[in-house]
Amino acid sequence: MNDILPDASPVWQYLEAQVRAVLDQYGYREIRMPVVEPTALFKRGVGEHTDIVEKEMYTFEDRGGDSLTLRPEGTAGCVRAAMQHGLLHNQVQRLWYAGPMFRYERPQKGRYRQFHQIGAETFGMASADIDAELIVLTARLLSNLGLSEHVTLHLNTLGSSEARAEYRNALVAYLEGVADQLDEDSKKRLHTNPLRILDSKSDTTQQLLNDAPVFDDFLDAESREHFQQLCALLDGAGVSYVINPRLVRGLDYYSRTVFEWITDSLGAQGTVCGGGRYDGLVPQLGGKETPAAGFALGVERLILLLETLEKIPSSVFATLDAYFILAGDSATREGFKLAERLRSEIPGLRLQLNCGGGSFKSQMKKADKSGAPLALILGDDEVAQQQLTIKPLRDDREQVQCGFDAATSQLRTLLAG
Ligand code: HAM
Repeated sequence: MNDILPDASPVWQYLEAQVRAVLDQYGYREIRMPVVEPTALFKRGVGEHTDIVEKEMYTFEDRGGDSLTLRPEGTAGCVRAAMQHGLLHNQVQRLWYAGPMFRYERPQKGRYRQFHQIGAETFGMASADIDAELIVLTARLLSNLGLSEHVTLHLNTLGSSEARAEYRNALVAYLEGVADQLDEDSKKRLHTNPLRILDSKSDTTQQLLNDAPVFDDFLDAESREHFQQLCALLDGAGVSYVINPRLVRGLDYYSRTVFEWITDSLGAQGTVCGGGRYDGLVPQLGGKETPAAGFALGVERLILLLETLEKIPSSVFATLDAYFILAGDSATREGFKLAERLRSEIPGLRLQLNCGGGSFKSQMKKADKSGAPLALILGDDEVAQQQLTIKPLRDDREQVQCGFDAATSQLRTLLAG
């Protein structure tokens, strides 16, 4: 679990603003859920035999004896909230959320125990257009961030639950025959979650799978058509993808479409965004049949990728426009007032006052360190003449002197470049 320190937070804010802007473009509305939910919600929603529920949840009993869990993901809680507040009655919803998730995983680069997701969930739309919308939205975001060339979209369909059940039987029957050669994890999954064996990281298991039954032979006609429609919409939008029949995702609620954006610039934890359709989840959690689809992106991983590829615009780190140097007692008094006036007259102005005194020299050093492009300078002598000095710190423009009344327009001009 990491602290996000002030030097790092501008990048977080940059990324969050970028994601938000794209979600706004598509008409998604924000929902905020609690970070804890009843444990049963995740067992039923995410699935008893997933890694998340079997070994990664932070579960505790509260003082009333109820079992609660720090959310390991956002979809189950979002569905719970939408059901509880009647958001799913005869209406469609496009929702998004952002916040911390918790999984007791072995930490490594790109994998943390508290991490952050920005997720989107849609309800009430059964056709492939919404699957395509979710994907083009993420493609647009990745493109805006300058990451398009460094990520690949993996796409698959898991078909209907009936098709999956049939395939599951065939796969288990085949794998039972070679069970002694499977890796340890896959052996365990053989009778609990055999489809997960498909994306096993073991080379031997992957080789064994080359002769296994393929899902395509079991895919139901409706899901096939849904998938074809999705592919056609993506083709039309110019979003390229790789069809990856071994992509199954680690949560049990998916049906039909699943997708991931994967990068090979981050090592083992290369999935920066994952999602898909989950038509069965709302009824499974006690609601009416409601088609649903969504995704979540991993904020830490996207930030790592932006940093690794040096895709963060330098303006992101410019958190100040000006630093105000005040030399002397009356300068402090008058400068304090002038700073307030400037903040009122120039909306959005980021002006930091030198508080706590100090020599002119030491204040200049602080101004320099602050990163601000301009220093405002006021000494006691200048107060008497109501004269302010504005000194560019990052280029060779001359400093200017102006009366207090002209300070607003002078500052505006200098900030404009
Ligand atoms: P997920 O694939 O488990 O899906 O997580 C989504 C993303 O969160 C991953 O692709 C990854 O970028 C990030 N992530 C997951 N675990 C960690 C971790 N331990 N440390 C850092 N980043 C991590 C879900 O959670 C689904 N709820 C997505 C979804 C929404 N499907 C439909 N709607």
